[in-house]
Amino acid sequence: MVKVDVKYTKLFINNEWVDAVSKKTFTTINPQDESVIARVAEGDDPDIDKAVEAAKKAFHRCSPWRTMDASQRGLLMLKLADLMESQARYLAELETLDCGKPVKEAESEVYYSITVLRFYAGKADKILGNTIPADGEVLSITLREPVGVCAHIIPWNYPIPMMVLKVAPALAAGCTMVVKPAEQTPLTALALAALVKEAGFPPGVVNVVPGFGATAGKSLTYQPYVDKISFTGSTRVGRIIMAAAAAVNIKRVSLELGGKSPLVVFDDADVEKAAQIAHAAAFANAGQSCCAGSRTYVQAGVYDRFVREAGEIARTRAVGNPFDDVQQGPQIDKTMFDKVLEYIKLGKTCGARCVAGGERLGTKGFYIKPTVFADVQDHMRIAREEIFGPIQCIFKFDTFEEVIDRANDSHYGLGAGVITNDITRALSFAKQVRSGSIWVNTYDHVTSQTPIGGFKNSGIGRELGEEGIKQYLESKTVTISLPKFPQFS
Ligand code: NAI
Ligand code: MG
Repeated sequence: MVKVDVKYTKLFINNEWVDAVSKKTFTTINPQDESVIARVAEGDDPDIDKAVEAAKKAFHRCSPWRTMDASQRGLLMLKLADLMESQARYLAELETLDCGKPVKEAESEVYYSITVLRFYAGKADKILGNTIPADGEVLSITLREPVGVCAHIIPWNYPIPMMVLKVAPALAAGCTMVVKPAEQTPLTALALAALVKEAGFPPGVVNVVPGFGATAGKSLTYQPYVDKISFTGSTRVGRIIMAAAAAVNIKRVSLELGGKSPLVVFDDADVEKAAQIAHAAAFANAGQSCCAGSRTYVQAGVYDRFVREAGEIARTRAVGNPFDDVQQGPQIDKTMFDKVLEYIKLGKTCGARCVAGGERLGTKGFYIKPTVFADVQDHMRIAREEIFGPIQCIFKFDTFEEVIDRANDSHYGLGAGVITNDITRALSFAKQVRSGSIWVNTYDHVTSQTPIGGFKNSGIGRELGEEGIKQYLESKTVTISLPKFPQFS
């Protein structure tokens, strides 16, 4: 068993480590064996108030943060990126301990997050407004200003990247913030907080308050001094947050709410390659991925071969101890483990054909065998609901027109993929499917430069890339009287 040192378990407010006002703590567990890793300070209303107060103070117009040159903000972010790099292995091991993802994936997520920080560090002094040819004897310009105090509510599936892809653009924009990590995975958020302090960010710019959704999370959404909420998680909670955001003030909201994304394989595809791409799309991060390509549509001509191939790949997927060289670790917790097994039962009873997996792996920890259902029908619950587990559903289709309508027949619209060698077919697909990201002959290729986000119930707003920073900026129009024929005495 790898020994990972847990250094930080308190709340991080105003660059200090403090207990919760209530002195309460909660446990975070290791999903490998359900053992308790640590007790973590449990934030609630008074702690959120303290953290927001610190962020509000750090946002004061005369504060060190607000008066700092934008280029200096960028340099601090680069310093943070360097510190993350120097601790990449430690952060990855801590992440694996807390959420069970294979350590090599956790490590690549740390490096990915560093690219996001560096991308936005470079943006800090390149946030440009417009000059406007306004009517009348005036000069009009727009200033892009930080939106203010931000609340970032983070899920447990990619704890470090999800935190960084909210914190980085917010810092570049000049905002201050309170981060609430998921209750299942608070440890890496606290480790990152320590690096924020070490990098030299002024107190109150970044605060991290672990706690539960119904208490600490909810408190942030009703806090009158929070200007903006950025949330990634379930559609159910996204709805609650959107309503709460309008209750005491008008908070800006961006929501990334998961999906039920289609991946469509046409007859002309290389079946083996297509099956590999579709497998990775469905099973990445044990299926606990917002973009998971969980609906695989395969054209009739290659359907049987594809199903055989997909079953074979799933059966040979390496599942086990995430500190070993595996492709898949345990599911995050008992709730999700039970939920996924329930969907497997549903799949079996509703008439889908289980061609791989279909049960838990072993008797300890939240391991589930990679499961493939073929002959899935569009009306089945496994076809319509986000499962968030290692389950691939395969559907047969005949024509382009038919599969576009079926791909779009979902309340979600986060991602979609198409595998074909016909460029016209691929681009027609890309234009006609209603999703925030479309991948052609690849899947889930997300970089610091490429915006991501959803249509329909998959959310509001985009993260990453040029679009990502807009969430954290307000536009201010300044109009100055400027006579066409000025008289100078
Ligand atoms: P969740 O939406 O309950 O939790 C996500 C975050 O929101 C956590 O930090 C949680 O503490 C917080 N939260 C919960 N209730 C809140 C409230 N009333 N106010 C403010 N914050 C609140 O998601 P959960 O329960 O972890 O997973 C349930 C389902 O959500 C999954 O099965 C999956 O379908 C979906 N999900 C989607 C994710 C994505 O990447 N879009 C990530 C995680 C879950
Ligand atoms: Mg945990």
